[in-house]
Amino acid sequence: MSNLLATQIVNIRWEAPDICSLTLRPLDHVLKATSIQAGAHIDLHLGKGIVRSYSLINPGDTQSYRIAVKLEPASRGGSRHVHQQLHIGQSLEISQPRNHFSLDESAAHSVLVAGGIGITPIFAMLQRLQQLGKTVHLIYCARRRADAAFLNEIETLMASHADGMSVQYCFADEGMAIPDLQALLAGHTANTHFYCCGPAPMLDAFEQACAALGHAHLHLERFSPPEQAAPAASGSYTAMLKKSGLTLKVETGQSLLDAILDAGVTADFSCREGICGSCETKVLCGEVEHRDFVLSKEEKAANRTMMLCVSACKSEYLELDI
Ligand code: FES
Repeated sequence: MSNLLATQIVNIRWEAPDICSLTLRPLDHVLKATSIQAGAHIDLHLGKGIVRSYSLINPGDTQSYRIAVKLEPASRGGSRHVHQQLHIGQSLEISQPRNHFSLDESAAHSVLVAGGIGITPIFAMLQRLQQLGKTVHLIYCARRRADAAFLNEIETLMASHADGMSVQYCFADEGMAIPDLQALLAGHTANTHFYCCGPAPMLDAFEQACAALGHAHLHLERFSPPEQAAPAASGSYTAMLKKSGLTLKVETGQSLLDAILDAGVTADFSCREGICGSCETKVLCGEVEHRDFVLSKEEKAANRTMMLCVSACKSEYLELDI
């Protein structure tokens, strides 16, 4: 069931020519030191059914949530709404923070790779690693230095932890158009953890570079699904919604999320592409055909949760905790 939180926008600040950050004060709840984790995101409920996910950039903060939003030229309404309609003092409903890109805080050394607005979860990780006193190397790519958000904050963090932090900027307007990730990711110890957030081609190159170098501990977060052939349409099956007490017939090729919403049941969702994790739901019975890009191989094999928007059911009967 939906469980939205009330907040108020208390600050909006430009971080780059097309990136603004928003600070949201909780109105009906209290933040604990563990509420905002590095890599976590929240969904903004912007009205008229528009829901968008944005990474939190202030891990450990107990006063407010902070996010940064890039105005996308091909915006489907989310980033344009944030940039043009939201203002200080306005109330905004958000989801609970979720984390599908969590930091392994036990790792002695981490390498963070950010492309463009992919800096948002990476910036949170950098702050957290600095708080923990861990060593970290940041690779930050953008088309132009002027487009890169949080450069001053990153420089301040680096200066305060000079022995343990290093950074390499790859800005196309300074001659680093296509960074050679295999070269940039080489030379780290076997237990280093590697994190990447950015556009799809960068994530693909990151995965390939890590595979070629034999890096075992890689973590990434996608803004869009990777290009691949569309999966075959799933067959029909029966879905029992335990909390709602409803039994639905999901027709061949029909999205489970649509079947649930059509039945008048409230379900959280945002991207509808299997990348944000908003629609993750507990599975009580049934064999899921996982088609999302959020759950790990191990989590898919465990069959404990599923993404309603893209995943389906291999068995004839599915039971969900919704
Ligand atoms: S709505 Fe984003 S993963 Fe399902």
